[in-house]
Amino acid sequence: MKLSNAKCLQGEISVPGDKSISHRAVMFGSIAKGTTEITGFLNSADCNSTIACFSQMGIDISKQKNTVLVNGKGLHGLTAPSSVLDAGNSGTTVRLMSGILSAQSFSSTITGDSSICKRPMKRIMEPLSLMGADITSINQNDCAPLSINGSSLHGISYHTKTASAQVKSSILLAGLYADSKTSVTEPQISRNHSEIMLRAFGADLSVSDKTVSINPATELYAQKVAVPGDISSAAYFIAAGLITPNSEILIKNVGINETRDGIIRVVQSMGGNITLLNERTACGEKIADILVKSSSLKAVTIEGAIIPTLIDELPVIAVLAAYAKGTTVIKDAAELKVKECNRIDAVTRNLQSMGGDITPTDDGFIIRGGSSLHSSNIETCHDHRIAMSFAIADLIADGNNTYDYPECVCISYPSFYDDLRKLQKSYVKFK
Ligand code: S3P
Repeated sequence: MKLSNAKCLQGEISVPGDKSISHRAVMFGSIAKGTTEITGFLNSADCNSTIACFSQMGIDISKQKNTVLVNGKGLHGLTAPSSVLDAGNSGTTVRLMSGILSAQSFSSTITGDSSICKRPMKRIMEPLSLMGADITSINQNDCAPLSINGSSLHGISYHTKTASAQVKSSILLAGLYADSKTSVTEPQISRNHSEIMLRAFGADLSVSDKTVSINPATELYAQKVAVPGDISSAAYFIAAGLITPNSEILIKNVGINETRDGIIRVVQSMGGNITLLNERTACGEKIADILVKSSSLKAVTIEGAIIPTLIDELPVIAVLAAYAKGTTVIKDAAELKVKECNRIDAVTRNLQSMGGDITPTDDGFIIRGGSSLHSSNIETCHDHRIAMSFAIADLIADGNNTYDYPECVCISYPSFYDDLRKLQKSYVKFK
């Protein structure tokens, strides 16, 4: 893989479908009545784990490229899985599905890979237990595998400690099956795809500031879901276009939901040349084409309510900060420690190994930009976002990075390297 020393990146690209929305469309389609048609589905390892789990519970799901048909059997149509449900590397799958599994008339066990089995599950076990769920961590370490005996659930009013769409959604899904209204209040607003999509499927859901409430449902109904491109995947090309000289990239059909658009706001305040074109709305989600051009970037401070809107983009934002002028401070992002890997450690180690000046903190980083970076051996920690972020850092670094497990991009973006190469090739072609 030789992606380094890009002279410029030119061209148009469509990134794959949004991961969060793709998971939800399969889940909600599975517990709705009728056939849900999903177009623009993210055909990646994570979303395929969700499909496999629902297939194991008797749901007929067919896939042709990026179109998926989910033959939902209604709110009470799932059947007991004959073996352990495997969420692979996907936190969204384990946490959201736990909300659904807690209310079924059967018992199940859900687990995942070695990363999943280290990630905190107490954050869902606690509220679900308060609702009456019988959910336990088999190894008694508050992590997966989780054993869930389906129970009757009660509505609760719950305040989460951290802004997490996975926790919020898990509780809301359990709330569909509860005997009274369920409310979740977050310290900051996390991504709201569940709220938008559950309403479209017929759930009685209301939002007031940081509180989302849901009433018990009798049935959800199949929908057509058009999945926009994933802004978390677009983020790598936004960063690539900004740092690579003489570049201009048009990223088409990207979801710019205001609970996900922090990267755009941060890049603008860094002085990045980024323009939103052709803004529109589909299936309740805002979409735009994003035009990005090479820019001189300056440092910023990123903290507070914006953090949940760009949490997955912080590794690549750290790379941008390393190429920016001045000292960037990222705070209030302790959640980075409990993602697919400890991303505070992984970003720090890899950026330092490339010659970057970065100090980790308890809840983020301090990055002194402007040092010229050189190639290194990147430890991906089998984390897709670490691999992709350092492929971007590599573009204008001296030499070529090597990666211990570059294939991990298949979790969210199987064609990432090909797409990046295409933008480099179009430069060569047009020169
Ligand atoms: C996601 C929510 C976020 C995000 C993850 C996907 C979702 O996690 O980091 O990649 O689909 O709900 P948290 O809910 O843990 O913040």
